Amino acid sequence: MLVLGIETSCDDSCIALVDGTGKILANVVSSQVDIHRQFGGVVPEVASRKHLELLPFVLHSALSGAQITLDAIDLITVTRGPGLLGSLLMGMCFAKTLALAKSKPLLGVNHLEGHLFAIRLDYPTLEPPFIALIVSGGHTELVDVAEWGRYQVLGGTRDDAAGEAYDKVAKFLGLGYPGGAIIDRLSEQGNPQRFFFVGGLETEDTLDFSFSGLKTAVVRTFSRFSKEEKQNFQSIVDLVASFQESVVRILLKKTITALKITGYRRVVLGGGVAANRYLRKKMKEGGEQRGFQVFFPSPSLCTDNAAMIAICGLFHFLQGRRDSLHVEPDPHFSL
Ligand code: KG4
Ligand code: ZN
Repeated sequence: MLVLGIETSCDDSCIALVDGTGKILANVVSSQVDIHRQFGGVVPEVASRKHLELLPFVLHSALSGAQITLDAIDLITVTRGPGLLGSLLMGMCFAKTLALAKSKPLLGVNHLEGHLFAIRLDYPTLEPPFIALIVSGGHTELVDVAEWGRYQVLGGTRDDAAGEAYDKVAKFLGLGYPGGAIIDRLSEQGNPQRFFFVGGLETEDTLDFSFSGLKTAVVRTFSRFSKEEKQNFQSIVDLVASFQESVVRILLKKTITALKITGYRRVVLGGGVAANRYLRKKMKEGGEQRGFQVFFPSPSLCTDNAAMIAICGLFHFLQGRRDSLHVEPDPHFSL
């Protein structure tokens, strides 16, 4: 069994090939980050045009890298949503064209479920029940995974997603784009205890998140810096390390509450922010102290990729699900 995965929900043009056991044969990610950097964020119209231009080359690179022809593929999977409509349309149009031209079955995949399934690429035998924490640029979601395919969302963000908060803080401080990986790196040189930021909803009895106030608190603290301090590298890295400390503390706190409510003893992470080294370290420590297991995909499988779409689509295909060529993108597709 050979599965082709296509992922274009945001600004990465991704195509992967995964076999029936979940082994990755190719996983090509063509990043548009250099184009969007000059605008300080993703420009949707530019992203969709770029997908159209890049996808044939990304496909060629995946097939030739794995030494596989299109005829040998058994299933075409593609991200249906959530994401940017124009970007989703490009991936779906490309997938439908391949499915029609080569008479292959087609399956639309939920991007968030894809992030959840990324763990199966590293741990093929991992089975629910567990709590999933999906933390990306667009989502912060705590999910009760009773079985693969059966989910109950326990909490989500009421404003900014965790990754979005990283990106906005980095942009405000002029640190670069995208901000998550930059703050991750810089924070290693900072003192996370220098400033204390209480997160929105942190102490409230809810599994929802709110990161927008935290971002504003960082902005306010910076604006109170003296002129010299604003130019001081150590003050800036202390500020971002303290911001990161708050994000990670909140994520860990709510995850522990979700474990208590469900009685589960395992946590699976996914999404771009799950690549964060401080989050990985603190979650692991939390698990060791409180007796729960923590599973992370390898960092390159946390951020957007098509291998996670392929393995998620494969699961649904084996359950008997098929989509017709009329399947439409859904920018607000929920779990
Ligand atoms: O999952 P993803 O690639 O795309 C979405 O579905 O949104 O996540 C992208 C987000 C961005 O906000 C990026 O800044 C953040 O993940 N990110 C990180 C790290 N690497 C990527 N955030 C914190 N630490 C990182 N190492
Ligand atoms: Zn994503």
